Amino acid sequence: MLKKIGLATVFMALTLGGAWAEDSLQKRAQGMFQPLPQTPPTLEKNPLTPEMIDLGRMLYFDPRLSASHLISCQTCHNVGLAGIDLQETSVGHGWQKGPRNAPTVLNAVFNRAQFWDGRADDLAEQAKGPVQASVEMNNTPERVIETLNSIPGYVEQFRKAFPGEKAPLSFDAMARAIEAFEATLITPDAPFDKYLKGDAGVLSKQQLQGLQLYMDKGCGACHSGVNLGGQGYYPFGLVEKPGAEVLPPDDLGRFKVTNTAADRYVFRAPPLRNITLTAPYFHSGKVWSLKDAVALMGSAQLGIMSPSCAL
Ligand code: HEC
Ligand code: HEC
Repeated sequence: MLKKIGLATVFMALTLGGAWAEDSLQKRAQGMFQPLPQTPPTLEKNPLTPEMIDLGRMLYFDPRLSASHLISCQTCHNVGLAGIDLQETSVGHGWQKGPRNAPTVLNAVFNRAQFWDGRADDLAEQAKGPVQASVEMNNTPERVIETLNSIPGYVEQFRKAFPGEKAPLSFDAMARAIEAFEATLITPDAPFDKYLKGDAGVLSKQQLQGLQLYMDKGCGACHSGVNLGGQGYYPFGLVEKPGAEVLPPDDLGRFKVTNTAADRYVFRAPPLRNITLTAPYFHSGKVWSLKDAVALMGSAQLGIMSPSCAL
């Protein structure tokens, strides 16, 4: 009797196993990830209007927000280059090289917090940083407001975007408008989104194998949700610390935000959407090949010691 059940099970697994496996793979993926929405999300603290989005677009591309009048958000987050600058670490004011790689602005609205260490809660708070950072745009809020006030087109546009406010043209309003524009920088309808919405045939066999490995090996423990990451903080080198070349000893990551010993070398697990377009990788920007980045993740975060064979 036992033997019979065993044989029947083997037979069923042979005939139906493929279809079942694919079906359950899709269900598992749907439990771990969500498709990107077609439209920008609702921002509770900053409801979007078309006027704010227009103004935010003007500001995003305007180098006059920088002290040199040479550098805009677009300089380091080029929307024609998937929202990045193709540099290991960014070059800003006076051609200084900053300490970290520029993450993409595409879909950044879906991250729980902004920056590699999550030190800004949202995009509006984030936008005030680079304008003032000495290695980025090196400006002051007062100078930005003075410059914008000297341009009649902006005065008019701020008034339209923030009607009813006593001083429509403010540093806060600038940041809110930039956030509104950035919220529109979303990339829905990737094949993976279609797969998550139910189209089982849209991914190739190799892509499905990759998805299965990704979930089986544990990548999804840290890179999941709508952005495949951007939600939680983990030590870079949970199992094995990468070398100083990739993990420079002087960047302590989230420790600088929380001042907690356990947060040394802790970083936000970055979102992996559009990842093939956003090399180089890691906060140090030292790894240019995605294959190498995945292999390093395998050993550093999961203890898979021969990544090229195991993955
Ligand atoms: C000189 C290059 C440079 C300029 C100019 C610049 N950024 Fe950045 N941006 C960076 C770097 C580098 C980081 C990562 C810094 C960190 O994590 O400490 C970053 C981080 C970000 C992030 C966080 C994304 C994420 O996933 O965490 C957003 C959003 C962003 N910048 C938007 C902007 C906006 C808006 C402007 C213009 C007001 C701007 N940046 C100007 C280089 C730049
Ligand atoms: C324990 C959590 C954790 C696990 C598990 C994990 N990662 Fe990561 N991943 C991170 C963190 C944190 C970073 C950011 C490291 C840094 O640069 O500071 C990262 C960075 C990356 C990057 C670079 C992204 C970029 O924009 O530079 C890629 C690619 C990546 N992970 C893929 C994977 C893959 C594939 C797996 C499975 C083999 C995996 N990760 C497993 C936490 C994790």
